[in-house]
Amino acid sequence: MNIRSLAAALAASVTLSFGAAQATDLEVTHWWTSGGEAAAVAELAKAFNATGNKWVDGAIAGGGDTARPIMISRITGGDPMGATQFNTGRQADELVEAGLMQDVTEVAKAEGWDKIINPPSLYKSCVKDGKWFCVPINIHSWQWMWMNNGVFEKIGKPVPKNWNEFVADVPDLQKAGIIPLAVGGQSWQSNGLFGVLQVALGGVDLWKKVNVDKDAKVAGGPEMLKIFKAAAQAREWSKDTKVQDWNQATNLVITGKAAAQIMGDWAQGEFAVAGKVAGKDYTCLPGLGVNEVISTGGDSFYFPKQKDPEKTKAQLVLAKTLLDKNTQVAFNLKKGSLPVRGDVDLAAANDCMKKGLEILKKGSVLPDGSQTLSPDTTGQLQDVIDKFWHDLSITPEEAQKQYAAIIAKAD
Ligand code: GAL
Repeated sequence: MNIRSLAAALAASVTLSFGAAQATDLEVTHWWTSGGEAAAVAELAKAFNATGNKWVDGAIAGGGDTARPIMISRITGGDPMGATQFNTGRQADELVEAGLMQDVTEVAKAEGWDKIINPPSLYKSCVKDGKWFCVPINIHSWQWMWMNNGVFEKIGKPVPKNWNEFVADVPDLQKAGIIPLAVGGQSWQSNGLFGVLQVALGGVDLWKKVNVDKDAKVAGGPEMLKIFKAAAQAREWSKDTKVQDWNQATNLVITGKAAAQIMGDWAQGEFAVAGKVAGKDYTCLPGLGVNEVISTGGDSFYFPKQKDPEKTKAQLVLAKTLLDKNTQVAFNLKKGSLPVRGDVDLAAANDCMKKGLEILKKGSVLPDGSQTLSPDTTGQLQDVIDKFWHDLSITPEEAQKQYAAIIAKAD
């Protein structure tokens, strides 16, 4: 049975009738397994359980690249979970197009999501032909560097205010036996870092020409070669990291074994659970202190079609709960992300979140690669960067040639 006929069979079996909701178990899959992530997802579970339903946690370890194929195969294989995380963007497009996903339009309309979600670009990827198939629940920006203040004190230097000052400190960090830049082994991490270097060192326009316009000439041009050369330096500085997961790399910074990590702002959830204080124990540099921008990536929840109408009702309750003001504050403060609602008060936000909110308010935002590139293109680019990052014999010129060839046929 192909995806379309499976979807038709499913659709025929679901009758949407809305009586009084009863307590229903809903299995929710996600890849949030680090300390900070688990603390945040507990806030979502608490809010959903308070509706009288039950959040059955379906955490999948190994990060998004491991979790998403599992989620997709369960949905296409007729064993759908009640709700699942994907990144805000294009990752679930084919599932929606195949008719396998429940729309939550009635909740979106009743709650006025198009009026409260900010920036509106966040929900554009949820809406197809006027129907809402997901709810964005946070804004996670990749455009950050996190530094351990004590490490720079140890080498007798002020905490760098930008990438160039960090680069100048690398020799002293190495002399002190400190890993300058912590980068975990999973390919999405070096690929994400590469994107941040494009923005910080090449500028927003360069990033857009390559990742939005998919301009292969620019991707193969002199400006991007400079980014590949900067990445070649960065891969040298990270080669002693020797961990796989992103939060293990963050922990190297938290414990002072490494000086810095370029990582999305979910990293601050780890600093929080370690009891570290932004500004005092660690410093965050949006846009590496060069181009202060926020990329509006993040996470959305989708709702695979269910046979049981009670489950469908519970899905609608969950969709509503995820965007509830209190849930937004409780979850995002623990997650280290910014809320998707502009009408919530993040009084408890730490210095770094406040920096992010300021930049967001100024409108210095750009989309995330998950929103501009197809999952297939992202995977191909990630493979090129992964090989470049771990095989020091691959030159910047060679990696750039492969990268530009993929951009030439990117969708
Ligand atoms: C991202 C996701 C974040 C995060 C990170 C590391 O894709 O948007 O919420 O936690 O993965 O797991």
